[in-house]
Amino acid sequence: MNKSDTAIAVMGAGLIGKRHIEHSAKLGCLCAIVDPDENAKQLAQHHGAAYFRSVTELIDSGLAQGVIVATPTQYHVDNTTALVKAGIPALIEKPIADKLDEAKQLVTLAADNKVPLMVGHHRRFNPLIQAAKAKIEEGVIGNLVAANAMCWLYKPDDYFDVPWRQQPGAGPLLTNLIHDIDLMRYFCGDVDSVQMLQSNSTRNHNVEDTAALLIRFKNNTVATMSVSDTIVAPWSWEMTANENPVYPNTNQSCYVLGGTHGSLAIPDMQHWHNAEDRGWYEPMHSDTIPTEALDPLIVQIEHFCNVIEGKAEPLVSGLEGLKTLQVLDAAYEAARTGSTVFVTGT
Ligand SMILES: NC(=O)c1ccc[n+]([C@@H]2O[C@H](COP(=O)([O-])OP(=O)(O)OC[C@H]3O[C@@H](n4cnc5c(N)ncnc54)[C@H](O)[C@@H]3O)[C@@H](O)[C@H]2O)c1
Repeated sequence: MNKSDTAIAVMGAGLIGKRHIEHSAKLGCLCAIVDPDENAKQLAQHHGAAYFRSVTELIDSGLAQGVIVATPTQYHVDNTTALVKAGIPALIEKPIADKLDEAKQLVTLAADNKVPLMVGHHRRFNPLIQAAKAKIEEGVIGNLVAANAMCWLYKPDDYFDVPWRQQPGAGPLLTNLIHDIDLMRYFCGDVDSVQMLQSNSTRNHNVEDTAALLIRFKNNTVATMSVSDTIVAPWSWEMTANENPVYPNTNQSCYVLGGTHGSLAIPDMQHWHNAEDRGWYEPMHSDTIPTEALDPLIVQIEHFCNVIEGKAEPLVSGLEGLKTLQVLDAAYEAARTGSTVFVTGT
């Protein structure tokens, strides 16, 4: 699809920002790059895009119809607030913010000003997820009863040479599992309550290296979710979904969703069921649910362009990003207090 009619700026030309820049340039919609680091200027020149050092310069230029905010998380709210006040739609990288109250204020401001906000939980745009969601809604596994999600990885030790990666907020819960939590919310709906245990006893950093969550959804589905950046294992979205070529693929599944009439493994897309009568004495069969391979980051940018043009409502709105962050906030509180924490309305 050619989206060259829409002018998108990318703010923050770091690890993920560079991928947004590449994709936007290929789609023909990149108009500007914003980053105080002068290296970004060369990148802008390379793509024939304008270069700005700050959000203020970008807004003053009047060039962008929409902005992808891929700065470090602690700057998401300030930068996006400026965009919203200028009436410019934003796609904010996940997590929407590092503080829940600031995220709430931003979502309210955008709603009051009728400026579309999206949050970069891009996995929802993966055709695997869209196919799984459609099958669940068709009822192929019956009523959802339980789900299990694993995000077990081993981050190489030099990953932690960057000091902030050893600090609170940079652990695998907010960096990685937030994506899995967002998908479980997409499949199972709003969350009722959360329990969590966490540990830092392997890496001994000032942040969790491992955590296990129990979640009850409002529809009574219960989920177990676990994350670790210190386990050598093949079961994580990163190593199974083939989304990013930097990760070798293990051809395993990292999610299992169980219902009254069958189960679904993702991303191997095996749908397990009995042929006729249900029961543990009956043979189990599996069929593969067909999907196509598309880069969800590209699909997300195309969708953002459609949102800017008023042709679509955000698939992952600011409110959705806020609700996902709220689950993590509740999980931290549950671990701190050793109790079940209820997720109250946003
Ligand atoms: N969706 C995903 O899978 C995914 C993957 C990685 C990171 N992220 C998220 O993306 C965000 C960025 O992460 P990263 O790893 O790319 O960070 P990074 O540190 O690699 O890059 C951040 C960039 O932002 C620039 N920057 C800093 N302040 C700025 C400002 N005020 N205005 C414009 N640019 C500014 C920095 O110079 C740097 O180039 C984080 O919120 C992170 O959680 C999402």
